[in-house]
Amino acid sequence: MLKIVVCVSGGGTNLQAILDAIDGGRITNTQILAVISNNAGAKALERAAGHGIPGILMSPKDYPDRAAFNRAFTEEMCRLAPDLIVLAGFLVRIPQEMVAKFSNRIVNIHPSLIPSFCGVGYYGLTVHEKALERGVKVTGATVHFVNEGMDEGPIIAQKAVEVLEGDTPEILQRRVMEQAEWVLLPQAIDDIANGRIFVENGKVIRTGKAR
Ligand code: GAR
Repeated sequence: MLKIVVCVSGGGTNLQAILDAIDGGRITNTQILAVISNNAGAKALERAAGHGIPGILMSPKDYPDRAAFNRAFTEEMCRLAPDLIVLAGFLVRIPQEMVAKFSNRIVNIHPSLIPSFCGVGYYGLTVHEKALERGVKVTGATVHFVNEGMDEGPIIAQKAVEVLEGDTPEILQRRVMEQAEWVLLPQAIDDIANGRIFVENGKVIRTGKAR
């Protein structure tokens, strides 16, 4: 059984997609140990509570400095000891010490086709604003393992989504979520839980067919 901790910052629609996939049998062999949010008002915490999953609040704002937060966050994660950490719309940078302790065991969903529109400052709605500003005709989402860099870890899967005439950042964000994010992230978790993908020498190895 793959034990996971899901980290969220806001609405938690990706968390909901994971919960629905577990309920619907599209993710198997997986248990959510806890949901961690940096935001007390996150709807994601309500979604977790609705499923009887412990919610944990961990915000940099509650610590004297970033180093103290990083330490506490990493300690909490070590206490929970998940097999996999899932960043499902988590807008706080993962401490380097956590990346080192959970090497190749952290995955992130990003709302663009990496390496476009990613890195420092590219998160949430901003990603879609930048894509529209640039006038790209295709965007999408990427699920990847997390390494020391920002949005630079080995890519697990990507899905393209069309940009349409008249799109606003909000409309485009919703389409990318519906068509790409809510599909890719549950699929990646199921693949990892069932041993269909792993990392070797910085590359994602896929064994067998994705479901
Ligand atoms: C999602 O679009 C996710 O890809 C993005 O934040 C949103 C969270 O929505 N993540 C990033 O930008 C990470 N760099 P949600 O809370 O409804 O799942």
